[in-house]
Amino acid sequence: MVQSTNNSSVSRRDLLKAAAASGGALAAGSISVSAAAESNKENLPPNVADWSTSLGEGVDTNPYGKPSEFEKDVVRRSVRWLTASTESSVNFTPLHELDGIITPNGLCFERHHSGVAEVNPTDHRLMINGLVEKPLIFTMEDIMRFPRTNKIFFLECAANSGMEWRGAQLNGCQFTQGMIHCVQYTGVRLKYILEEAGLKTNAKWLMPEGGDSAGMNRSVPLAKALDDCLLAFKMNGEALRPEQGYPLRLVVPGWEGNMWVKWLRRIEVGDMPWHTREETSKYTDLMENGKSRRFTWVMDCKSVITNPSPQAPINHGKGHTVLTGLAWSGQGTVDRVDITLDGGKNWHAARIDGPRLPKALHRFYYEFDWDGSPLLLQSRAVDSTGYVQPTKDELRTVRGTNSIYHNNGIQTWHVLKNGEVENVEIS
Ligand code: MTE
Ligand code: CO
Repeated sequence: MVQSTNNSSVSRRDLLKAAAASGGALAAGSISVSAAAESNKENLPPNVADWSTSLGEGVDTNPYGKPSEFEKDVVRRSVRWLTASTESSVNFTPLHELDGIITPNGLCFERHHSGVAEVNPTDHRLMINGLVEKPLIFTMEDIMRFPRTNKIFFLECAANSGMEWRGAQLNGCQFTQGMIHCVQYTGVRLKYILEEAGLKTNAKWLMPEGGDSAGMNRSVPLAKALDDCLLAFKMNGEALRPEQGYPLRLVVPGWEGNMWVKWLRRIEVGDMPWHTREETSKYTDLMENGKSRRFTWVMDCKSVITNPSPQAPINHGKGHTVLTGLAWSGQGTVDRVDITLDGGKNWHAARIDGPRLPKALHRFYYEFDWDGSPLLLQSRAVDSTGYVQPTKDELRTVRGTNSIYHNNGIQTWHVLKNGEVENVEIS
């Protein structure tokens, strides 16, 4: 019963019929379904719509542009009961509302340990000290005089999907997978800054430290810093947002978000890791054999179907359906994504569309003809190293259920007959 658009049996006529059946408005060759619920019939053809009868707002009404008011629900959201205060808390990217691979700046999820530091860039300094020939203090202007680079990377909090270790919990990919964003960073390679200070021969580790009152810090192996870490000052072309570490953040491609220190004020160079709070009492996974996993830096290959999903049900009824989602790997690119509609009995190759960049989000699509019966949707990604995204049960076999971090298990969405979608698990 499952057909892709390549199959000529799904014609444009079927698409139009489906839209008509769901009450969607038909305009020449295009379908407007989503607005149907709230549409004002007076605005529909053959009438002239309200917005076509008068002048609109002039230029400069919004010197800094903002989305249409009809998009007001496309926002980051938090889960109130998760944390005791908003200053040490998290909110989530509305993945189900987005397309392509870039997260708009105002929708990047936020994770702060002591709120957003309000840093005046003129007074901001980056200090390099420890095992260096020449301890240095840089202004923002100094940093911007190094050769710049532009790179697109995802940032995923290691706690993303952490609430799902013991079973399906939250209804919406915004909440279950939304501790991720992907933007284009402009910055300079950390390697150049370290070379300027001159590394001593026994230098092996770095400790980046944030300028927020939490002074968040982590130990980063020198090899990673020299390989691909950046000091970023722009995201998607404009200055970093305060929430994302304005004016300077560390970018640690493919590695857990906790290491991407925001409001970066200092980097100490040492010969051993520091065993900071964030890498001992946090970001360590207790295993059932009494041991623990630490320094689990890489974010392994993962994917999620963003539409349909609990916050994005199928509203159009039976017929041609566009399924889409995101896949990523901290090890490189994503080679393929497979989709099942029946809980893993049959798998179909999804179409990855758009840039396929290492350590960046990949966008996939799968078009099919929904016959109106319940579905169990899953996506499974395979990365360029051949690593296959595991099921949640496969993860639990190795890691038990005491973990919080690094849950990259396959997500299941149960599509009901009426098009509603629920977060479920199948074994
Ligand atoms: N850096 C500082 N200085 N303070 C913080 O609280 N939170 C970390 C990391 N860097 C944090 C920080 C965590 S746990 C994550 S997941 C990411 O920043 C979140 O980045 P974002 O707010 O841009 O999404
Ligand atoms: Co985090």
